[in-house]
Amino acid sequence: MAVNKIKAVILAAGKGTRMKSSKPKVLQDIFSKTLLERVIDSVLKVKNIEEIFLVVGHQADEVTNYVKDKYKDISYPVTSVLQQPQLGTGDAVFKAYDHLKDFKGSVIVLCGDAPLLTTETLSGFVQSHEQSKSDISVLSAIIEPPGSYGRIIRKQSGSVNKIVEAKDANEQEKLINEVNTGVYCLNWQQISPVFFDLTTDNEQGEYYLTDIIEWGVKKDLNVSAHILEDANEAFGINSRADLAKATYILNQRKLQQLMNDGVTIVSPENTSISPETQIGMDSVVFPGCYIDGVNTIGENCVLGPNLYIEGNVTAQDNVKLIQSKISDAIIGKNSSVGPFAHLRGNVEVTNDVRIGNFVEVKKSLINKNTNIAHLSYIGDSELGKNVNIGAGTITANYNPLTKQKSKTILEDDVKIGSNSVLVAPVTVSSKANVAAGSVITKDVPENALAIARGKQTILEDWVTKKT
Ligand code: UD1
Ligand code: CA
Repeated sequence: MAVNKIKAVILAAGKGTRMKSSKPKVLQDIFSKTLLERVIDSVLKVKNIEEIFLVVGHQADEVTNYVKDKYKDISYPVTSVLQQPQLGTGDAVFKAYDHLKDFKGSVIVLCGDAPLLTTETLSGFVQSHEQSKSDISVLSAIIEPPGSYGRIIRKQSGSVNKIVEAKDANEQEKLINEVNTGVYCLNWQQISPVFFDLTTDNEQGEYYLTDIIEWGVKKDLNVSAHILEDANEAFGINSRADLAKATYILNQRKLQQLMNDGVTIVSPENTSISPETQIGMDSVVFPGCYIDGVNTIGENCVLGPNLYIEGNVTAQDNVKLIQSKISDAIIGKNSSVGPFAHLRGNVEVTNDVRIGNFVEVKKSLINKNTNIAHLSYIGDSELGKNVNIGAGTITANYNPLTKQKSKTILEDDVKIGSNSVLVAPVTVSSKANVAAGSVITKDVPENALAIARGKQTILEDWVTKKT
């Protein structure tokens, strides 16, 4: 069976005035991922997609450069086409016409500011378009009140007749709550001539893409509307309030999925978890967690209360992350972090490690069974197995004169006494000890004890003599 090829056109030329931002609207974030990336990523996963056209206009260079950089490694092109000025959604799709002229397949059209549409829904929509041999399919939704969305006007028989924009609708049409989500699937060969027939004869003086429906019906093409099961997926973002609502919807979706999969969320109203986070069964998420970024958390983990995760964090089974900030870290089985710890800049912690109160770890490797339990800064370091770091130990990794950072290496079974400073570059070899309060500037050999502090002096009866 011949495979139907698919290309997509994503509309992102509009201004987004209501966002009140110096950034283009489609580059606003929800859980540290732009609206546009969310839309493109759900399109990318649709089967047989072979090219994406992005219609850009306002702040075109910024949007184009962003996409070029983000998608430089994918196997097919994301091509920007410029629409200037913005003469409407019909004109926007027409800008990709030259690229699509000889294309035989389906073209999906979507909006860059509607990031809640899932790949599953999009794939189902494309599939039903193909199975029903439709020429024009539009994805509709039941929304109450239907507000400013275009209304789907059906004939008495139930088949779709046209779309009327809210601004052009009469009182009766305004009452219709089946609306246009702005997502279409088009049999390109059949419908491409429409772009030469669109007019600006409407309230907004724009070329409306929605007019293709009536055009198709008049040409006796196969036109259909598929109603979205979850109308939230149609949600388009125009303002900061919409951004908050979309974040809320994505968070609810994620929490529900996690709970369905066996994760305890103690207080969903006080928990935020990005869609890109996976958490294993029997883990418990206590209130006050803000888990952003792309993370994989294992089974039986304890998260929070109060935890901020960002970037890219992996935690294996039975890990405890309590009241801490963690970005870009890998944490091995049975390890615990916090309360009040900060892991950042690529930290790797293996199994059975304890990182405790007021400990900051930056760009370091901490091996099995090592403890850094209280009040430490460990940066640019490699700690072996079974190392014990006394309270208040600092790795002095930065030389402000040379502006260079250097490494501290503590081999297996090393013990560092409390309140020591390890001035990098420095190595403490295996089993060596450092006495409390030492400032270590030279390497310490295996099995040795290093003491680097002022000797204690006792002045007998000093107090009585003074008084
Ligand atoms: C459009 C639909 C409406 C639908 C709604 C769904 C039309 C005429 N109306 O209305 O039926 O209910 O979307 O959200 O299509 N854009 C361009 N170039 C332009 C104009 C718009 O690229 O010249 C882009 C915008 O950046 C945006 C998308 O197209 O991503 C939709 O445009 P917008 O102005 O928001 O359309 P609506 O008036 O909401
Ligand atoms: Ca508009």
